Amino acid sequence: MKTRALVFGATGYTGHHIVQRLTAGSIATVAHVRADSPRGEEWEGRFRSYGAEISRASWEASEISSLVKDAAPTWIFALLGTTRARKKDLLARGEDGAQETYEAIDRDLTLMALEAAAGLDSRPLFVYLSSLGANVSARLPYLKVRGEVERRIAESALPHVIAQPGFITGADRPESRPMERVGAVLSDGALSALAAVGLRGPHAKWASLSGDQLAAGLIAAARDAGSESSTTLEPPALRQLAAG
Ligand SMILES: NC(=O)c1ccc[n+]([C@@H]2O[C@H](COP(=O)([O-])OP(=O)(O)OC[C@H]3O[C@@H](n4cnc5c(N)ncnc54)[C@H](OP(=O)(O)O)[C@@H]3O)[C@@H](O)[C@H]2O)c1
Repeated sequence: MKTRALVFGATGYTGHHIVQRLTAGSIATVAHVRADSPRGEEWEGRFRSYGAEISRASWEASEISSLVKDAAPTWIFALLGTTRARKKDLLARGEDGAQETYEAIDRDLTLMALEAAAGLDSRPLFVYLSSLGANVSARLPYLKVRGEVERRIAESALPHVIAQPGFITGADRPESRPMERVGAVLSDGALSALAAVGLRGPHAKWASLSGDQLAAGLIAAARDAGSESSTTLEPPALRQLAAG
């Protein structure tokens, strides 16, 4: 069957690289840009220039379900997530930030996409960008909701790939997550110093991945996946897949 990809979170740092790589590899790609995206037209223009199709479906179960049906994807990428900084920005602009939570965005929107995917007879591959440390019992809500999503994906009948990176950052990262960028630069420095004296394990596990590197790893994992795949990838495996 011809590969056809649908990307949720296409406008994010990782999502943008995924769309760029998929289209460069001549894979038919639908990039989802939410209906109320503040920079929606700019993103539409950019994705069109790559050769992607665009969907501006609203985050309503019926619209997402129609999108998934119409797109008929063989691969679905779910790369959504909010940050506390986003919530603060919304509140500072006098907008409604109450719904900008890990539960409402990272978990519930991803589960909406999962449910729509599970409704297809064709059982597309569901590729979920989670995080190192994701666990239903975690105390941090960010990691807990990711654990919940991972569990629901595992319980679904869909073949899946779950990626658990550490920091995702690079010089090309728009500064929507400045603290992560600073944290990554500091920890990458310390990890490189350890690797230089022969302790390579911590670097392989914890060093940051760039958006493009992660995109390459996720797409390679999707290519390798079969109809019964149930794969969880930590940074060393993602790094290896990205390197080809
Ligand atoms: N950054 C890291 O170091 C790191 C590490 C491990 C895991 N992760 C996780 O990996 C995923 C992708 O990371 P990233 O850094 O590529 O993310 P990002 O650049 O922050 O992009 C986040 C995506 O989520 C969407 N989103 C955010 N708030 C939304 C809302 N209210 N309604 C609908 N969509 C919304 C954004 O859409 P708009 O552009 O329309 O706002 C964007 O497409 C996230 O789940 C993140 O938590 C990140």
